Amino acid sequence: MAGFLDPLSSETRRLSTFDGYDLATARELCDAIARYDKLRLVLEDVPSSRIVGLAEFSLDLTPGDIARYQEAGIRLAETTDCRFGPTLADDYQGRGVGTLVLPLVTEVARLLGRTRIILWGGVRANNPRAIRYYEKNGFQSVGFFAEADGSLSLDMMLDLHPVPDAAGALT
Ligand SMILES: CC(C)(COP(=O)(O)OP(=O)(O)OC[C@H]1O[C@@H](n2cnc3c(N)ncnc32)[C@H](O)[C@@H]1OP(=O)(O)O)[C@@H](O)C(=O)NCCC(=O)NCCS
Repeated sequence: MAGFLDPLSSETRRLSTFDGYDLATARELCDAIARYDKLRLVLEDVPSSRIVGLAEFSLDLTPGDIARYQEAGIRLAETTDCRFGPTLADDYQGRGVGTLVLPLVTEVARLLGRTRIILWGGVRANNPRAIRYYEKNGFQSVGFFAEADGSLSLDMMLDLHPVPDAAGALT
């Protein structure tokens, strides 16, 4: 895990923030796996075994999330909603990998009985690639909000309710 965090560029660190990027943080992240309410899905390159991505997944909602969505007229509930935040290694970004991973994440959400996924802490308004990534994978904009430093972020949500397939059948 430290081998994934440490090389992340300053730009990736700005867009996807962790408590730290050193061995101690890597240990904390690993120690928390399968404890609390969080899942950490790791993407591993084969055959190098290098970790090239991390999909953070939480069944817990924060009071801040609940309040922001409420303002947008959406009532979040821990029984139906979960949070997702992806980070890819710099050399794996912009190659469609995030889009390949998303069905695995939605499958996990469904298996855990969730019907909606919200972005973990939103997405920065000046992160056009991530916004495009979420939009093209079905996420809808909920609303902008100001970060503590005054910069803007966007809340987005994916509805996992049954959708018609190409033949019009509900799956
Ligand atoms: C966000 C992230 C997970 C997306 O995964 P990915 O594999 O890079 O995404 P994809 O390649 O599947 O899709 C990216 C889309 O954005 C488009 N794109 C790339 N740069 C863009 C830009 N500057 N402006 C607009 N669109 C852009 C790509 O063309 C592609 O869309 P297309 O398929 O319609 O052409 C990954 O880029 C990442 O880890 N980024 C750094 C950390 C981060 O931002 N995490 C999200 C925090 S909310």
